[in-house]
Amino acid sequence: MAKRICIAEDSRTQAKILEEILAKRGYEVIVAEDGMDGLYKVNEAMPDLIISDVEMPRMNGYEFCRTVKTDEALKQIPFVLLTLLTNVKDVVKGLEAGADYYITKPYSADVLGETVESILIAGKTLQNGSSAADVAIEIEGRIHRFQADPQKILNFFHSTFENLVSRNESLSLTKQELRKLNTHLGEKVREKTRFLEGEIAERIKAENALKDNLGNMRKTLDGTVRALATTIEMRDPYTAGHQRRVAQLSCAIGRKMGFTQEFIDGLEVMGFLHDIGKIIVPAEILSKPGALNEFEFNIIKAHAHAGYNILKGIEFPWPVAAATIQHHERLDGSGYPDGLSGETIIMEARILAVADVVEAMATHRPYRPALGTEIALKEIAENSGTRYDPAVVEVCRTLFTEKEFNFE
Ligand SMILES: [Fe+2]
Repeated sequence: MAKRICIAEDSRTQAKILEEILAKRGYEVIVAEDGMDGLYKVNEAMPDLIISDVEMPRMNGYEFCRTVKTDEALKQIPFVLLTLLTNVKDVVKGLEAGADYYITKPYSADVLGETVESILIAGKTLQNGSSAADVAIEIEGRIHRFQADPQKILNFFHSTFENLVSRNESLSLTKQELRKLNTHLGEKVREKTRFLEGEIAERIKAENALKDNLGNMRKTLDGTVRALATTIEMRDPYTAGHQRRVAQLSCAIGRKMGFTQEFIDGLEVMGFLHDIGKIIVPAEILSKPGALNEFEFNIIKAHAHAGYNILKGIEFPWPVAAATIQHHERLDGSGYPDGLSGETIIMEARILAVADVVEAMATHRPYRPALGTEIALKEIAENSGTRYDPAVVEVCRTLFTEKEFNFE
């Protein structure tokens, strides 16, 4: 039997386009003109999936979503918000309303179709996830608190990332087209200068719009990475700020080692996300004062692999998943989870490892007070060349001894 999808969209043209894409893939589509109408139709038809616009008269997408998600009979239906994603606040608003995924406009028919397909496959497993947890996300100084399943938060951010990445791709396509147009313009200029003045103005306008768009997207991506990092840290107050400080120190090391800005941008994202796998570790273990037993330590160790699983599907322009799984590997093969050694450990992970250890030792932990920067630097110096990359250790020590870097 064909899967049934309800779409709520107030623009007739948009609704038509969406309906055609979905019908072509064999879905039965029910169209509602806003949230209110959607609610009526959802109750009547019990669809397998709901796709809703955000801005609509009478009842907007957030309200529609909230109503569905607080209704015992409807809340298991996956809810997708379809929107112009302008900032991370919108992402959080959707999460607060209980939405499961985001698809951004403009979307390509393929991306939309594939997303819908994967949601319908995953749809049932969503409800079997771990129970809802209190989540607090800080954005621009305001704390947003709500209840959500950690797995759902990850799915949500994951879909946001995928959307951003696919938008990035279509933006680079536009860039290529602009470049072509530029070459083309060169030839034409010789012929019809006057006619071209208008076209040049258009081209400049398009280029500026493209720049704005890329800038906004970058901001959203950064905001999302930070919000995600905060979510992890809220569960683990003792390492609150740990990821942020590891990001700062990693970037400082990368800069001093002479890597490109692109590489350093990647280090920042990796710093912010390297411990994301801790979402699978029970809070009691994370905040346990005193030593951990072997069983507990093994659960903690699993965070490297869990982080990899969460991040591997996201197409970052940097090897974020690889750095995440490798950040506890050691040069001499004594690390975990795979016991990698030497240069099989990527440079990003070798930098993260040093920054991670220095930050962890320099600050307070549930099982011991802060040891201080001096002891941290001694640890990396003593194990330089065995556990840690000597070039990274050297640069990191200089940063502190020359007072070029300090934890905030
Ligand atoms: Fe870690």
